[in-house]
Amino acid sequence: FWYSFVLVSSIFSAQSFKENEEIRRSQFPDGFLFGASTSSYQAFVEGAYLEDGKSLSNWDVFCHTPGTIESNENGDVADDHYHRYLEDIELMHSLGMNSYRFSISWARILPDGMLGKTNPSGITFYNKLIDHLLLKGIEPFVTVHHNDMPQVLEQRDGGWLSPLLREEFAHFASICFKSFGDRVKYWITFNEPNLMIEFAYIRGWYPPARCSTPFGNCSSGNSDTEPLIAMHNILIAHATAVDTYRRVFWPKQHGFIGIVANAHMMFDPLVHGDYPSEMRECPGLELPRFSHNEKQLLRGSIDFIGFNHYSTLYVKDCIHSACPLGGDHAIKGFLNTTGYRDGVPIGEPTGMPRFFVVPRGMEKMLDYLKQRYNNKPMFITENGYSLPTPQTELQDWNRIKFHKAYMASVARAIRNGADVRGYFIWSLMDNFEWLSGYTTRFGLYYVDRKTLHRTPKLSAGWFASFLRNSSHND
Ligand code: NOJ
Repeated sequence: FWYSFVLVSSIFSAQSFKENEEIRRSQFPDGFLFGASTSSYQAFVEGAYLEDGKSLSNWDVFCHTPGTIESNENGDVADDHYHRYLEDIELMHSLGMNSYRFSISWARILPDGMLGKTNPSGITFYNKLIDHLLLKGIEPFVTVHHNDMPQVLEQRDGGWLSPLLREEFAHFASICFKSFGDRVKYWITFNEPNLMIEFAYIRGWYPPARCSTPFGNCSSGNSDTEPLIAMHNILIAHATAVDTYRRVFWPKQHGFIGIVANAHMMFDPLVHGDYPSEMRECPGLELPRFSHNEKQLLRGSIDFIGFNHYSTLYVKDCIHSACPLGGDHAIKGFLNTTGYRDGVPIGEPTGMPRFFVVPRGMEKMLDYLKQRYNNKPMFITENGYSLPTPQTELQDWNRIKFHKAYMASVARAIRNGADVRGYFIWSLMDNFEWLSGYTTRFGLYYVDRKTLHRTPKLSAGWFASFLRNSSHND
């Protein structure tokens, strides 16, 4: 599924991003959503990891295993958004954001999966969060699954390798629709399933830490077909949840439902009902097949495309030419893509090893998605700039420059006809960055790790003035 990225074979010319590019809110359509994103484990980073009936998530267990995360950090407390959400909503309001993207902790809502009861305290917490957002005029944009799930589903069912997870997820999603759908009008089923699967089943970096051939010898197991099976189950889980939403809830709730992919992934099965034919041609790739019913469920199963964009990479067509043939080689070809070509970096580096600053890549991708998927509505559900902690200051001029250049690129794509409806900055505040722990920071707000005090960086002030559409734009 994610190998179809090789179709995006445009090579972007190396360029540095323009200083002080002029960008104004009035360049975006009326009703455009401007906000920031977080997720339950990392930033929403709820903290309260075992409070109020929540069970252990796969990430709780993973991070508690010494040696998995930088400095053995974890999200037990994280930004403690669970207890500080009112203060955080005030921060959002003071910036003038009209939307906030967060995710729901599966282990807080259904601690024992579908075999157990819904946790009333979990529902109460999200009700309070949603109600307070709406009170401040902030549209909740909700992700149902953002990497974390109850650990029991990993142990009892076998995680995403098991078809049981399709029903488990659809059940969880329907509890969310039922409990919050009267007020939540934007739903995302999964965040970046392509990267989650790559990291969990190819590279062995995320739980359950399994590997495929190029990365061999993970302590918890190796297989080249597992990533394909896990992705297949996620696609069907998505389609089943969307079908329930549309049949049972939509007639009263009238919301919009989609998925979020990282830029590497294309959306063919969710639009056309099957994997792209190029993937079937890929030698050595044992691609699972969808049944007739599954194809029907998948076809047209997104109302919008959610798109997380952080960087632009050089890619190589390893299926049709150049690279040696074979499934393993296709996988290696994918993993060998880098931001370098002939030793020349494609853009300026950031605090994340695979992220280079290439604003023009955003416009290119939006244009490509517009053409490939008949201009389906699109949201930039994440875009962000990080710096390693020691270099992080409140004077984050580079972050401002980054967002101005990327927003200008989005505005150009819109002028060329792309139906883009929102832009969310990752992230509202510094948070737990998965394997990197707290060593790198993406926030508009600086979070002191000892006191958890939030301090606005310059970028927060810039975003607020941009949202006011004031002339103080740099
Ligand atoms: C995208 C992921 O959704 C988010 O969880 C992560 O923190 C950012 N990328 C930055 O790496």
